[in-house]
Amino acid sequence: MSISTPVPLTLLTRGPADLSSERGVECPGELPPAADPALAERIAAAKAALGSRVFVLGHHYQRDDVIAFADVTGDSFKLAQQAAARPEAEFIVFCGVHFMAESADILTGDHQRVILPDMAAGCSMADMATWEQVEDAWDVLADAGVADRTIPVSYMNSSAAIKAFTGRHGGTICTSSNAHVALTWAFEQGEKVLFLPDQHLGRNTAVRHLGMSLEDCVVYDPHKPNGGLTERQLQDAKMILWRGHCSVHGRFTEQNVHDVRERIPGVNVLVHPECRHEVVSAADHVGSTEHIIRTLEAAPAGSAWAIGTELNLVQRLAKQHPDKQVVFLDKTVCYCSTMNRIDMPHLAWALESLVEGQVRNVITVDAETARYAKIALDQMLALPGI
Ligand code: 13P
Ligand code: SF4
Repeated sequence: MSISTPVPLTLLTRGPADLSSERGVECPGELPPAADPALAERIAAAKAALGSRVFVLGHHYQRDDVIAFADVTGDSFKLAQQAAARPEAEFIVFCGVHFMAESADILTGDHQRVILPDMAAGCSMADMATWEQVEDAWDVLADAGVADRTIPVSYMNSSAAIKAFTGRHGGTICTSSNAHVALTWAFEQGEKVLFLPDQHLGRNTAVRHLGMSLEDCVVYDPHKPNGGLTERQLQDAKMILWRGHCSVHGRFTEQNVHDVRERIPGVNVLVHPECRHEVVSAADHVGSTEHIIRTLEAAPAGSAWAIGTELNLVQRLAKQHPDKQVVFLDKTVCYCSTMNRIDMPHLAWALESLVEGQVRNVITVDAETARYAKIALDQMLALPGI
């Protein structure tokens, strides 16, 4: 088969892929200056002019000034559902990152167009698994005699090509809010799981929800021959975790948890499952962004919370809950720099272009990749009880 976007997210790079860096691209066309005090009015006017032709989705990690214009906000699972549920909208403007917009394109109809206001809004974790690397890994698993017993489970935070690989091999996509259901389903289909690209979500879910031990998990490093694993290790493992991680959540440490407990007696520590296993183990509560929001809503006045996730969301929660003490788990700033690339000038530019009849920054997944990726995404949407 032909995959026309073998390294989809690195189309943002110039020259050979530099997976350790987050990239920038120039925006085609004229962006309004960031300091323009009329930006909010301009965005509101463009949205009003487009009416029901446009639907704006906003991930919880977006900045407040952008989230203010979202028709719906959510975690990556809710946003995928919402994109699929809006066939009447001609344009879906995705205030989030590239892999989310790709998924929205796959789940929406041919008459709809998905727009990412800044093409540089990628995800360093998604870039950690390329289609070629994953195909090579599958060959390694086949050589070890385990591929036919292995079900791929790919985190939403992956390129469309990886999702297509997953669909072709009978697997499913998952998000942080349904990873335990996805893994339970996968172990009903096969004996092992290849979980990619976030080793932490895979490990945390296997150990916390499926009762596995850390010894049941091995880490496949795509930069080492045979993933750095022996055939015996692959045969013995239940969870084969891809060596990928989130550069934002990877910053939180177990020491952060101990420090905040000392600083704020009685504090509840609530972290995202992309955090490292020792952080998740030291925390009191773990969950997706949507879960974090709901937990804060249900918390009693006067309670104290230290939250380990992206800083825009933590700051918003602190503002929304003045009756509770809400602090950031780390001491240093921890925004997701690519999520933050969607700002008011880019949103104004994307919407005003639509008003002028120019459709900018369209995210399109080629038909064959989309067909197989949709099988894996539909499998996720059909998982029981989610
Ligand atoms: P959720 O929105 O699914 O919790 O995922 C967080 C994230 O890192 C998205 O990039
Ligand atoms: Fe990717 Fe992490 Fe940013 Fe989410 S928070 S978009 S996983 S880099």
